[in-house]
Amino acid sequence: MLSRSVLRSLTHSSRLFSTSAARQQKVAVLGAGGGIGQPLSLLLKLDPYVTSLSLYDIRGAPGVAADVSHIDTASEVTGYPADKLDEALEGVKVVVIPAGVPRKPGMTRDDLFNTNASIVRDLAAAIGRVSPEAHILVISNPVNSTVPIVSAVLEKAGVYDPRRVFGVTTLDVVRAARFLSQITGSNPQDTVVPVVGGHSGATIVPLLSQTEQGKSLTGEAYEKLIHRIQFGGDEVVKAKDGAGSATLSMAYAGARFTNALLRGLAGEKGIVTPTFVKSPLFADKGIDFFSSPIELGPNGVEKVHPLGPLSPSEEKLLAACLPDLKKNIEKGKAFVAQS
Ligand code: NAD
Ligand code: LMR
Repeated sequence: MLSRSVLRSLTHSSRLFSTSAARQQKVAVLGAGGGIGQPLSLLLKLDPYVTSLSLYDIRGAPGVAADVSHIDTASEVTGYPADKLDEALEGVKVVVIPAGVPRKPGMTRDDLFNTNASIVRDLAAAIGRVSPEAHILVISNPVNSTVPIVSAVLEKAGVYDPRRVFGVTTLDVVRAARFLSQITGSNPQDTVVPVVGGHSGATIVPLLSQTEQGKSLTGEAYEKLIHRIQFGGDEVVKAKDGAGSATLSMAYAGARFTNALLRGLAGEKGIVTPTFVKSPLFADKGIDFFSSPIELGPNGVEKVHPLGPLSPSEEKLLAACLPDLKKNIEKGKAFVAQS
């Protein structure tokens, strides 16, 4: 089990827009005109920790900004067109990146690499130049590769701080809570499942043994739930039938993670949530990025929590995760090295 205090923190961190004393921040969304970007911008406009919202896209961001700016919360909203990326990044504390193409049925997330790797690389280079101290939240897939890409670009530019780069894996946590609660009849808000590893298929490792509601699940019910959490993205891709992948649930998950980070940056204690970061946990196996419960604080990553004891089934899931994850990470690094 994770320690009681970490579990309590995971529960506490799973609320959208929990507030204490708000210290407000400037947040940018790169890809704000897209399926995720639009509802994410809406939700960030509602976040009391956001004082200013900078919306950028190669298409349509000024329109989204004009629309969202009429909502009666105090934050300022500005939209920036394709040629105004540097302006969009000026003075930002947090940059959220949902820019890039989504999957169609039959595709893996890795199939998006060819298009999204260069989009993310170029955005990271601009952040490194204009707002090198910003915290970067990467949503664009394949997250297992795009996070190493962003990190390597910043490293090349001499401005990399591993405490400030995050792959957003919150949707896996959200799905795990919802899907498990559907089986057990529990309140999803109190059904907290640590999901570790990476963000695609077998690299997604839900730790059901560490939850009150999930620890007694066995056999077919256990196997089915694990499969549903690992391949929840495919459910949406199939249902959207060529029109993209999860956007609304992702916007919710992205807004929730952004809020958790902003609360940590503001000095709130006990903000712990899984996210894909530079991690020492499996570095001895050549895997230097991994998602595990991370404590967020004034500098970003405050503490990388270990996984805690795993059940024999979870040991097997982890064994299947590691080789795939390693390949995805190496692919991202190699892309930047060759760029
Ligand atoms: P979308 O096509 O609806 O929107 C993407 C937006 O990015 C578009 O508005 C496009 O104009 C913009 N864009 C493209 N190149 C850009 C650039 N260089 N600079 C700024 N903006 C640019 O796609 P979507 O459904 O919003 O998905 C976006 C990405 O998020 C995809 O890669 C998808 O796979 C990923 N995703 C990740 C998760 C996760 O859990 N991390 C969940 C869902 C989707
Ligand atoms: C998800 O998990 O929904 C996203 O990663 C999008 C996808 O391609 O499935």
